[in-house]
Amino acid sequence: MCGIVGYIGNRDCTDVLLDTLSKLEYRGYDSAGIAVFEKGSIKVKKSKGKLVNLVKKMDVEGRPSGHCGIGHTRWATHGEPSDINSHPHGNRRISIVHNGIIENYKELKELLKKEGYAFESETDTEVLAKLIDYYYNGDPVDTLINTLAHIDGSYGVGIVFRDFPDHIYAMRKDSPLILGTGENENFIASDIASILKYTRDYYLIEHGEICDITQNEIKVFDTHKNIIEKELHTATWDVDAAEKGGYEHFMLKEIHEQPSAVKLTLSPRIKNSLPDLSESGLTAEKLGSYENIYIIACGTAMHAAMVGKYVIEKLARVSVTVDIASEFRYRDPLINPTDLFIAISQSGETADTKAALHLAKDRGADTLAIVNVVGSSIAREADMVLYTNAGPEISVASTKAYSVQLAAMYLLAVELANVKKRITSEECAKLTENLLELPSLIEKCLETKEMCQLTASKLVNANSLLYIGRGLDYALSMEGSLKLKEISYIHSESYAAGELKHGTISLITDNMPVVAVATQRALIEKTVSNIEEVKARGAMVVLVCGESLEIEDKIVDYVIRLPETNEMFMPSLAAIPLQLIAYYTSVLKGNDVDQPRNLAKSVTVE
Ligand code: AGP
Repeated sequence: MCGIVGYIGNRDCTDVLLDTLSKLEYRGYDSAGIAVFEKGSIKVKKSKGKLVNLVKKMDVEGRPSGHCGIGHTRWATHGEPSDINSHPHGNRRISIVHNGIIENYKELKELLKKEGYAFESETDTEVLAKLIDYYYNGDPVDTLINTLAHIDGSYGVGIVFRDFPDHIYAMRKDSPLILGTGENENFIASDIASILKYTRDYYLIEHGEICDITQNEIKVFDTHKNIIEKELHTATWDVDAAEKGGYEHFMLKEIHEQPSAVKLTLSPRIKNSLPDLSESGLTAEKLGSYENIYIIACGTAMHAAMVGKYVIEKLARVSVTVDIASEFRYRDPLINPTDLFIAISQSGETADTKAALHLAKDRGADTLAIVNVVGSSIAREADMVLYTNAGPEISVASTKAYSVQLAAMYLLAVELANVKKRITSEECAKLTENLLELPSLIEKCLETKEMCQLTASKLVNANSLLYIGRGLDYALSMEGSLKLKEISYIHSESYAAGELKHGTISLITDNMPVVAVATQRALIEKTVSNIEEVKARGAMVVLVCGESLEIEDKIVDYVIRLPETNEMFMPSLAAIPLQLIAYYTSVLKGNDVDQPRNLAKSVTVE
């Protein structure tokens, strides 16, 4: 999704904007642009494509030179990716960059046309820029307050006015935007990771707030122009966290960070052999009172929720409903004040997940956010929050975020089982011991790298694949399949192994490889029968299983063996080769692994 930056200080503004925009590339974008004050006027440069195109364009046309400006990476929503549709938008008096959607832009455009405004792009952002210009009365804060009263939708906006060359203005509603503050310099940015090189200190902007930023001062106003005192936050993330650190891709780096990320999520929450989620606000008393649990998320986070459902229901015997956020919000769900609603999200900004959270709050349920990005919207809006401590995840394809979400699910399941007295204290101690062993076992799973590389070389020419498993292995295979398709562009589906013969098995030929996951002892014989069925029909079979499984060579082509632990936690181990297979397949195809086509890291529009 779109990325926003803004800089005011003593450095060369164009350099800082390009550098910080490059840190937002991971969000996904198809054009980029900057607006910089140069000798009293606003110089705008923008270009379709990646930042390198913008740089090339400036090499030819000249690079704006100044100390104050705004920048943008655009992920097209209204209007195709093109130079004209790229941000910044505006005119000689004003320039803006925007993330989000102005829902009533068509009516506003008609109104502005009647007032004599002409439009060159198809974007809602140009309408917003011209609306601000229309209301401009010489006082930027008043102007923005007036403008806000007329727009519907979501926005994170950075604005510069020609008459105020030493100021950047910003406002937000439902789209991420923070204010970074350094020594003699200030920033706006879509996330803290993009400006970590310059500062760790930042302020969060709440909905409807308007910010006036100069080199040495930040003022934040509410819509009545009252000044708001803001709390200063300091990011704990390491500057290196947003760099590749010697790895070829962020995805590979993040796969390797999983042992430490899982450790950081689990260890602080296991005390005296008991899970302890009280720091999130989830007291034992509260946990014991819930009748049902709803877990809502999108994509990878939803797959982590699926694993959570199996584990929570098995251990704690509490009914769990998992929903895709975009479905949940429109199906009038039966959620009650006695239910616990959990939203899982790496970014904490996913529009559908956020909307589902609002719905659950309206219905009176207690809400818990399991979120990675500290201070993100979902984290702030839920009643309780459990941070997953994975550090910034840059690659569009989630890997370490999935692993820490699984860890959070396990903690919740064990804590709930303990509180509800479904397990003895000895069983609880054993489970927490198993959890604490996970990081070192994940480390061992990384040793399957070469086997995964070999497997990828056998899958790379396939047009379509099936991932199969039963129970928890099925839940995990959903994630394996998503990982492969999003970065290798090979179609794949995950299927409950037992369901194959009800239709899908007709697809099986020697042209349809099958990746089978079999880590659940009680289900292994059944899964092996399903493997035999697909093998008999010509499929090449890759099997991911525990090291003790005995299987005849002739029914599988490639076997990836994993260390074993409590089988409820096996998805954390089996996820590693599935991620590596997807990664190496994408590399072999020469794809852009970290920024796959059409995708955005953080999906902040519906
Ligand atoms: C998968 O690799 C994706 N990154 C995607 O499915 C992601 O999990 C989904 O968009 C939800 O994002 P969130 O966790 O930031 O809410």
